[in-house]
Amino acid sequence: MARIKSRYVCQQCGSEFPTWYGRCPSCSSWNSVVEEAVPVQEGRAARPPRPGVAARQAVRLTEASLTESKRLRTGIDELDRVLGGGIVPGSAVLVSGEPGIGKSTLMMHAAARIARGASVLYVTGEESVSQVGMRARRLKAVDERIYVLPETDIVEVLRAADSIKPAVLMVDSIQTMQDASLGSAAGSVGQVRQCAALLIEASKSSDMASFMVGHVTKTGAVAGPKVLEHMVDTVLQFEGGIHQAYRVVRTLKNRFGSTDEVGVFEMGEDGLREVTNPSEAFLRERVAGMAGSVVVPCMEGTRPFLVELQALVGSPGANFPRRTASGVDQGRVAIMLAVLGRRIGLGIEANDTFMNVAGGISVDEPAADLGIAVALTSSYKNRPVNPRTAVFGEIGLSGELRSVPKAEARAAEAARLGFVNLVVPKASLTRMKASRQLGGQAEVFGAGTLAEAIEYLLG
Ligand code: TYD
Ligand code: MG
Repeated sequence: MARIKSRYVCQQCGSEFPTWYGRCPSCSSWNSVVEEAVPVQEGRAARPPRPGVAARQAVRLTEASLTESKRLRTGIDELDRVLGGGIVPGSAVLVSGEPGIGKSTLMMHAAARIARGASVLYVTGEESVSQVGMRARRLKAVDERIYVLPETDIVEVLRAADSIKPAVLMVDSIQTMQDASLGSAAGSVGQVRQCAALLIEASKSSDMASFMVGHVTKTGAVAGPKVLEHMVDTVLQFEGGIHQAYRVVRTLKNRFGSTDEVGVFEMGEDGLREVTNPSEAFLRERVAGMAGSVVVPCMEGTRPFLVELQALVGSPGANFPRRTASGVDQGRVAIMLAVLGRRIGLGIEANDTFMNVAGGISVDEPAADLGIAVALTSSYKNRPVNPRTAVFGEIGLSGELRSVPKAEARAAEAARLGFVNLVVPKASLTRMKASRQLGGQAEVFGAGTLAEAIEYLLG
């Protein structure tokens, strides 16, 4: 086959070159020049027709088929939710995450569910058919409507898709795919982009949805999946350490639904189990009545769930205090320590402080501020917060408590799980009263300042 011409394009400034450079001669940035296929403009006929790609025609908008109505539900609620209600035919979804976090496992679970009503082509570039088969057996995902293809040549993948015509094509992973017409190695930015473009084109021109698995490293150094984010319709990201039981799948982008949605899974012997009640799961191992622990209702998209924040305040360090935080933003903790020191007069700033969110999930919203401050104070004073109390609220630098979004939903979730006492920003309480949603039977205290909240909880 004749080699398609390629060019080298700087990803920073867009300059084109006939050869590769380690440093862009135009804008001087390092490692930004990648190989790309030259788009064929003159003489489209010169390009061999690609398998799986039908010629497209303009349609009247009034005649446009509404794919919304025929979403393919996987029946895995946590997955359907992050997809915005199911798989949209013809869409392209990127599933990204660190190696070992469960991407292949989730794909196989999904394949098994889809196979109840439609066929799935699972392309593996990383594992052998027998490895995939063994996993499928463990997950009880063996079905004759699932086809497995060990292949890394993207043209062959499209050819197979064209003959099998699956409802869903899964490519695991996009970094192992290669277009032989480009000289660069599989996994390079140019290859990843080219292969994804071919897959997306094939999906769009048929009704086949495609899932691409993409690995990212902890540092996010490998550019692979990042360059795909603007090309695909939906980006799902796996979070949670591989040593932690809970895996959170988050929607980073969705052309067919809201972002910020999360699905929660637990990795077990027989694969990923859905966690339909995250609040209960996250609080299951809680030891009630410990100083330094407090429960905070957090929001993930439209969904409230309760997490336990834990603080441990040590003795004053010799030189610099040691501060670590996992699951919450270190900077936020530093601000809370400063506010506690300056506005409350707590002599906590020189102490070693450790913060943690139980269950290995992460919380990054200002509504957790009050929880952070209360947990720190509780540990410092060695005085527990009532175990059936939950708190939320943003704290300003003057020590004032600011209202947060979705106070009603947070309060309702806390009440549902048996919390009888809530401490919230005064402004949020006013709004909750106005909307007459006070979270069931729970007694709600509206605090104007952090000092008031601490006095009420630990005074
Ligand atoms: P995997 O889905 O292969 O991760 P990825 O495709 O993201 O690299 O599996 C992740 C980990 O999960 C792997 O280390 C083994 C573990 N695992 C289980 O604990 N139980 C199971 O049933 C399966 C299939 C995997
Ligand atoms: Mg995998």
